[in-house]
Amino acid sequence: MTLFGSGTLWGLAAVALFGVSAVTLGWLQVEKLGLGQDRPVVVTTGVPDVGGSFSLVNHRGERVTDQTFRGKATAYFFGFTHCPEVCPTTLFEMSERMRELGPDADRLNIVFVTVDPERDTPEHLKLYLDSFDPRIVGLTGTREETDRAAKAFRIGHDRSDMDGGGYMVNHTASVVVMDAKGAFVTLLDYHEDKATSLAKLRRAIEGGSRACREDAMALYNDVVLPRLLDHAMRNEELVGYRRRIAGAARGRVLEVGIGSGLNLPFYGSGVTEIIGLDPSDPLIGMASRRAKANDRVVSFLAGSAEAIPLDTGSVDTVVTTWTMCSIPDARAALAEMRRVLRPGGDLLFVEHGRAPDSWVVCFQDWLTPVWKPLAGGCHLNRPIADLVTGARFRMLDLRTGYLPGAKPLRPFTFMYEGRAKGA
Ligand SMILES: C[S@@+](CC[C@H](N)C(=O)[O-])C[C@H]1O[C@@H](n2cnc3c(N)ncnc32)[C@H](O)[C@@H]1O
Repeated sequence: MTLFGSGTLWGLAAVALFGVSAVTLGWLQVEKLGLGQDRPVVVTTGVPDVGGSFSLVNHRGERVTDQTFRGKATAYFFGFTHCPEVCPTTLFEMSERMRELGPDADRLNIVFVTVDPERDTPEHLKLYLDSFDPRIVGLTGTREETDRAAKAFRIGHDRSDMDGGGYMVNHTASVVVMDAKGAFVTLLDYHEDKATSLAKLRRAIEGGSRACREDAMALYNDVVLPRLLDHAMRNEELVGYRRRIAGAARGRVLEVGIGSGLNLPFYGSGVTEIIGLDPSDPLIGMASRRAKANDRVVSFLAGSAEAIPLDTGSVDTVVTTWTMCSIPDARAALAEMRRVLRPGGDLLFVEHGRAPDSWVVCFQDWLTPVWKPLAGGCHLNRPIADLVTGARFRMLDLRTGYLPGAKPLRPFTFMYEGRAKGA
């Protein structure tokens, strides 16, 4: 995949267009209210620079920051409690949207930030917000603190004295919607119809959930999974296979999917060089520590077997142990392994895969879609021998069979151990 393929360029263009319209919308509101005489020059690089850190006091008198609202999408509305029309209307409408969102409303914060902190004390905000959805949070602070927050959210506000005493505050009327990570999503315009604003809020809620799911998945893949794999692959039952496969390797060896380096202790004196390929940085880190502990010099390549960054015919042996199940395109990977092997070089492998018994295959096919995301992309049902010969390898040895153990584990334990040469 190229970084600047045509899809990426269209994506960047769309983001830029969206950014320009969103920022412009906000400032149009300022102009409508008589602000913005010095028309701001808005320079955008595609993502609107709206929102930022703040520290304020809520209507219960507690100090909160922008971080308090992370983890859920948040709609910020800046106004003041003496506002005759725009603020009560907006808060009434936001209360309605909360009702219409039903249970999804619990995945959204609505925050009302005052631009009139002198009059809007926490107590005053509390009394005022009693008329709206009880989940709406009011925020106030010192003049400096509320001004800083308003500036971060691109909210214009301006005090004007009234004849006969008192004052009003003109302010931007848009609601600023941020995602669960505190990034700008969209604006709700004051005159927008209910269906549009509801759809925008739903989009922010869903986007937030997606971002949280992606974060959780990244944490699982980068932190949890490497440790789980290392632990699972240290299983004593696998040592015999490792000893035979790594022990048979000769010359310049490429180990595809080296993982945490558990084969390293078993390479013999006939091995002159070891190159370890793996797409996972945390696993490469573990393998590199294991190489040092075993006094092994290993060159590590971070990458995928589908595009091996080595010259054609440049290695004597390719080793792969319980890796072909996880490579997204196993056929492409095997073609690459054949390419980098010198003529007459060996492919040595042990893999788990498709079993011969129909009830086991049934389970393997049924379980694979659930198992795959939890186990680093592992397919339980790949026909390993067919894949190897299908990639124009000549099979010299092949041993298959279940690991000893309980029958219900059979979908995971049918092994293919073999040696093949480029045909
Ligand atoms: C179950 S682990 C086995 C690790 C190691 N071979 C062992 O025997 O302990 C599967 C390995 O395949 C690697 N892998 C996944 N996708 C890959 C790809 N596209 N190319 C190369 N290796 C890959 C994973 O990062 C992981 O190290």
